Amino acid sequence: MSTTAARPAPSRPAAPPFDLARIRADFPILAEPVRGGRLAYLDNGATTQKPESVLRAMDYYYRHQNANVHRAVHDLAERATTAYEAARDRIARFLGAAREEIVFTRGTTEAINLAAYSYLLPRLKAGDEILLTGMEHHSNIVPWQLVAAQAGAKVVAAPLKDAGELDLAAWRGLLNERTRLVAVVHVSNTLGTINPVETLIREAHAHGVPVLVDGAQAIAHMAVDLKTLDADFYACSAHKAYGPTGFGVLYAKRAHLEAMQPWHGGGDMIRTVSFEGSTWNDIPYKFEAGTPDMAGAIGFAAALDYIEAQGLGAIAAHEHALLEQGTAQLSEIPGLRLIGTAARKAGILSFVMDCAHPQDIGTILDQEGVAVRTGHHCTMPLMQRFGIPATVRASLAIYNGADDLEQLTRALHKVRRLFR
Ligand SMILES: Cc1ncc(COP(=O)(O)O)c(C=O)c1O
Repeated sequence: MSTTAARPAPSRPAAPPFDLARIRADFPILAEPVRGGRLAYLDNGATTQKPESVLRAMDYYYRHQNANVHRAVHDLAERATTAYEAARDRIARFLGAAREEIVFTRGTTEAINLAAYSYLLPRLKAGDEILLTGMEHHSNIVPWQLVAAQAGAKVVAAPLKDAGELDLAAWRGLLNERTRLVAVVHVSNTLGTINPVETLIREAHAHGVPVLVDGAQAIAHMAVDLKTLDADFYACSAHKAYGPTGFGVLYAKRAHLEAMQPWHGGGDMIRTVSFEGSTWNDIPYKFEAGTPDMAGAIGFAAALDYIEAQGLGAIAAHEHALLEQGTAQLSEIPGLRLIGTAARKAGILSFVMDCAHPQDIGTILDQEGVAVRTGHHCTMPLMQRFGIPATVRASLAIYNGADDLEQLTRALHKVRRLFR
């Protein structure tokens, strides 16, 4: 790599003590006034904000490295290719995977669709089953329904307990000789539940069943080591981990990728093309047709640098303390019911109130500068399970603090006053 091609170094030395003010200063958008006042950004489950180092890495790419990758001999193309492939190394190292096992996608959704169409569909027969859980995001339901419909197979979902935990006994009862794949969310985007994925993977493997884990809400909040986890497939999105939108990864074990046929055809995924037929590039390129999102990969790598520099242990401890504080504060609001009270939970506070619809609550919160999400959160079956149309969801990230939760609580008291 030439010196000008180098990605700007991460802005922080490794693992400094957790300093919220310093972290907040890294995210320029947090200083943005909203509705004329202070922003309490609690919509991190939908997308996270981006630190200066990510913005700088992507800006640097377009200013100093931009060219199409893999296909040219000129200096800029070499810089772009070097930076892009270095990003793959970085992402692989963060997840504990080999670089060949990291397929770049547009996000979690595309990653799951890739596994569904390229891995599962050719192996699926009439009567087969795909075992999900009742808390899956639509992205981890609909792709399986689409391929199941083509093969005459069936999607089944294990039920949940009232706290929003997977009913493990029921899940075990549904894992049988017809199960062709288990797909499970690592951290529920609606409930915050952390699923016992290690156990599910071990038990599914004991039945010879491969497992896909939807890690969209996990990688920015807890350490994920794919070598020890032993998942067959793991999907994630950069934008939920302080990286850019429209970029993500499908991790798959090398043997699966080798055995899978390409999904999308086009440039870069081929070795040779003739009108009689084509042959495929090596993994992972076999699954990456067309000009990729170079800046996306570079931005994601910078985001992972940022996470690692803060330390996932420190991040998880900070978010857990906030979760406990938020749970205590919200529990004291009359008529408020938390949805999702699992023993193992990430920083997500979903709730309903007896006095107002989630949409109206969200509107009042917005007037008070509190950004939350309201609706079904792309988990309609989960809403049905709890007999509610929607929730309000406050979701935490590294830059949130007690002041954000206090702003939320004050605004919820205002909702009570207005709608009582
Ligand atoms: C658990 C979960 N899975 C999948 C997705 C889809 O991610 P993306 O829209 O980045 O593809 C989301 C996004 O909200 C999610 O929370």
